[in-house]
Amino acid sequence: MNLNHIVDLSEFPITELNKIIDLGYKIKKDYNFYFKSMENNILATLFFEPSTRTMLSFETAMIRLGGNNIGFDNPSKTSISKGESFTDTIKTISAYSDLMVIRHSLEGAAKLASYFSDIPVINAGDGGHLHPTQTLTDLLTIYIETKSLNNLVIGFCGDLKNGRTVHSLIKSLSLYKNNKFIFISTDTLKIPKYIRRFLDQNNCSYTETVSMDEYMNELDILYMTRIQKERFESKVIYNQEKDKYILTTEKISNSKKSLKILHPLPRTNEIDINVDLNEKAVYFKQLKYGVYARMALIVLLMHDNITIPISKAFELENKICINPKCISQVEKSAKKLFKKDKFDKNILNCDYCDYLIY
Ligand code: NCD
Repeated sequence: MNLNHIVDLSEFPITELNKIIDLGYKIKKDYNFYFKSMENNILATLFFEPSTRTMLSFETAMIRLGGNNIGFDNPSKTSISKGESFTDTIKTISAYSDLMVIRHSLEGAAKLASYFSDIPVINAGDGGHLHPTQTLTDLLTIYIETKSLNNLVIGFCGDLKNGRTVHSLIKSLSLYKNNKFIFISTDTLKIPKYIRRFLDQNNCSYTETVSMDEYMNELDILYMTRIQKERFESKVIYNQEKDKYILTTEKISNSKKSLKILHPLPRTNEIDINVDLNEKAVYFKQLKYGVYARMALIVLLMHDNITIPISKAFELENKICINPKCISQVEKSAKKLFKKDKFDKNILNCDYCDYLIY
């Protein structure tokens, strides 16, 4: 049985990532290419958090491939409301389907699920941590719209602290050649330390600024994000942070003619609706490309055509992850698993949420 899980794309060799992008590109050109290739397969969608695009594009992808879907988007209607554990739920779904897509508010949920599942698990967002299939969508969009994934200046704007799509995309784009990142955010919503470390370790160039205008004329890609209201502990801080960056037609007036504006969506106020009419705005194309990216991923994963490195995590009884948003804090069945830090032997990374443990 195929036991490839898609939890964190940065563990992938770039060759495997390119396979998915190339197939997504091919599927875009010939939509019926893999018609019926998933006949008799069942995809289970387990959405513990709200979703429009991710869940429905996965379901669409599976139907386009001739397969079927089961799942839930309201865990209160499942036996979880009777006190069933997360991992017992995973074991159950894994007995009913061939592939599982999971979204959860706790970081590391998909990783934990992968240890209890007999079928491949795809991470569809784990708290503020990662969102690898949005990254595949974003990479495919960038590739279709700019014809390259190298030598790009990419601006990320908004909630860079809590935006899981941002974290996943930065990690994957850093695997390509000569990309430069501009991080546009307030001090409160800067990218997390572990992502900055990741970039330093991979010799990637990045600049942090609070100004939306400072580097606008240098950008090839502008990746806008919403302020992640649901991840704030304090409403007061959310109210201080919201609406700080609003992209208008005027703001992009001096940008490159070839600039492409992406957004994982949903949008709140951060892009004025008049920008939608500008040819630089590609976010509504991006959500359509998400179906092709997910079709490509399902086909490759289920046909055992991608190789995913085996996790090198080890158990340490006397250590705990101190991230309060990590699934290992609440799930009794989560073993205390850690990975060695690539560059510093005095530091460990939590296997579930990547938190740095000193
Ligand atoms: C994103 C998510 O859920 O992280 N949405 C999506 O999957 N397209 C972005 C967001 O909610 O802001």
